[in-house]
Amino acid sequence: MHLAAAPSCRRTHSNERPVLLNLAVETNDSSATAPGSGRSVVSMDGVSKVFSNGTVALTDMSVDVRPGEFVSLLGPSGCGKSTALRIIAGLGEPSAGSVNWPLSRINARGLPEGDVGFVFQEPTLMPWQTVFGNVYLPLKLRGQSKSAVRKQVMDMLALVGLADFADAYPRELSGGMKMRVSIARALVTRPKLLLLDEPFAALDEITRQKLNDDVLMLWRQSGVTVIFVTHSVYESAYLSSRVLVMKARPGRVCADIALDPPRERDESYRISEKYRQTCELVSDALRDAMNERRLQHG
Ligand SMILES: Nc1ncnc2c1ncn2[C@@H]1O[C@H](COP(=O)(O)OP(=O)(O)OP(=O)(O)O)[C@@H](O)[C@H]1O
Ligand SMILES: [Mg+2]
Repeated sequence: MHLAAAPSCRRTHSNERPVLLNLAVETNDSSATAPGSGRSVVSMDGVSKVFSNGTVALTDMSVDVRPGEFVSLLGPSGCGKSTALRIIAGLGEPSAGSVNWPLSRINARGLPEGDVGFVFQEPTLMPWQTVFGNVYLPLKLRGQSKSAVRKQVMDMLALVGLADFADAYPRELSGGMKMRVSIARALVTRPKLLLLDEPFAALDEITRQKLNDDVLMLWRQSGVTVIFVTHSVYESAYLSSRVLVMKARPGRVCADIALDPPRERDESYRISEKYRQTCELVSDALRDAMNERRLQHG
C-alpha cells in the first residue's frame, strides 16, 4: 500500500507557516485541503488571544475548515486547543483577527444562526431533566413545542442508540451513555459544524473506541463538518480527514496533515499497516511540535 508523505511547505524563519503533509491516497491532491481553497464552513483569520493575565494563548492562527471535513486539533496540554474551539463557537472573543462563516447567515452577535453544536469534555446534562428533556432543550430554546419536535428528538436518540432511555435521568446512565446524550443534544438542531472538546478523555479505552465509531457513523449519516479536539495521536489518526497539530507558547498550528476521509473505519483498520503508518507520521509531527527528537526511526 502506498502512503505518500510529501511535505509541500516548510519554513523555519520567524514568519512560520504550518508544514503541509498529504497522506491521502484517495485524492493525492494536497490542494484539496490547502488553506484558502474553496468556501469554508468557518475560517479563523489571523486569530490571536491574550488573556487578561497576560497569557498569550494563541498567535496569528489561520485555519480554513471546509464542508464535510473531519478535522482533529491535536496538541500538548495548554497549547490553546480549547481556546481556539471556544473562539470558533463564540464563547470567547479573539484579541486580534477574526472568525468568518462564509456559508452561514450571521446573527446580531456575529455568530452563525444555529449552525454550531458544541460537545464539552463533561456531558453537562441537566440532572433534573430526562434524556429526552436534555436533548429537547436546544429546540425548546428556539421556541419549538415538545409535540412538534418529538419525532426529531426520538430519531436523534435512536441514532445514538438511546431510544430506550428517553425517560431515564442522567444519574441512571453510564459515562459513555451521558456523552451520547450530549452528542445528541449538540446534533438535534442539525448544525453545519460540530465542535467536540476532548469528549471521550474521561472514558475507558473500549467505550472510547465505541464512541469514536459512533461519531464517525453520525458524521457519515448527517454530513456535518467536525472539529474534534484531542490529545491522542491514535484517536486523531482514526477519526480524521485532516489533523492540525498545534504547538504551545504561544499556541499556533504547526502541521496540517491531510488523510483519506474516514469512510471505512473499523477494527480491521485499527490493526492495518496504513493506520500504523498514519499514527507514526502524526506522532512525528506531534513530537516536532513538542520539540522532541525521535529516538528511533523504524
Ligand atoms: N480564562 C483564562 N485566563 C487565563 N489564561 C487562560 C484562560 N483559559 C486558558 N488560559 C491559558 O491559555 C493557554 C491555553 O489554554 P487551553 O485551555 O486553550 O489549552 P488546551 O490546549 O485546551 O489544554 P488542555 O489539553 O490541557 O485542555 C494555557 O496556558 C492556559 O493556562
Ligand atoms: Mg482543553
